Amino acid sequence: MRQQRIRTPVTLDGRLGPASRHPSMADPAYLARRRALGELARDHQVGAPSPLVAYSDLEHRTWGVVHRALVHEQRKHACREVVDVVDALDLPDDHVPQHGEVSARLGRLTGFRLTLAGGVVDTRRFLGSMLDGYFHAVQYLRHPAVPFYTPEPDVLHDLVGHGTQLATPRLAELYRVIGRTARRLRTTEAVELISRIFWFTLEYGVVRENGDLRAYGAALLSSSGEIECFRGAEIRPLDIRMMANTHYEINGYQPVLYRAESMDHLTDTLTAFFDGMDDETPARLARWPGRP
Ligand SMILES: [Fe+2]
Repeated sequence: MRQQRIRTPVTLDGRLGPASRHPSMADPAYLARRRALGELARDHQVGAPSPLVAYSDLEHRTWGVVHRALVHEQRKHACREVVDVVDALDLPDDHVPQHGEVSARLGRLTGFRLTLAGGVVDTRRFLGSMLDGYFHAVQYLRHPAVPFYTPEPDVLHDLVGHGTQLATPRLAELYRVIGRTARRLRTTEAVELISRIFWFTLEYGVVRENGDLRAYGAALLSSSGEIECFRGAEIRPLDIRMMANTHYEINGYQPVLYRAESMDHLTDTLTAFFDGMDDETPARLARWPGRP
């Protein structure tokens, strides 16, 4: 799950087009299914069990096709700590797993669990729940006509992207640090800044590893197209001030990514920043004279 991010889909021939022209928008049966699964999250309390979903054969096939491709790409392009937990998380490649199955494995690995989302989640709730070890995840799948891209986060993004991150002790702890900060601070601007840093790191972060660049961001880990070509983006050093003042692209592939020098560098930098962040931090960073 991400907060309110709508991405432009890639068409079958690989070109990007507006979300309004995505095949899902012209398929009433798909929209009804997506709406029905979203409705299950109405009044959901964080931490309550997610309902079991009876997925169709087509949904299981879509999961399998995309999951197999993503695991293949992750092994080639993801950082070592992520690759090392793929087997431990052991997401199935022949059926859509239920939230409960994945939560049980995550719980054993890092203590995290999934909690149900029906789509857009309030940002403070989304971030704050991480302190308690809960990650909001949806249950619906992307449209089968375009299996390798989706205009909005689906269960593949949430489980293969965020789920894999949350299986690594280091990144799970970072989620908790972010949750603690969101819970502690009061202003809308502070929550927006946390969300922006989350976007450039845990959604789209890359890290230097053995002289190469590797992905650890969930959006990259769950997009077989983008994980193959992220090295073509403008890669900047990890810089919170610059990040806070960088426009992010919600349509299509990201033009600017931030690179940590190592996973230790990532966790040290983010933990120090979030632990020292207060409600005045957004205003201080906005006055930075070096704004790009
Ligand atoms: Fe996400």
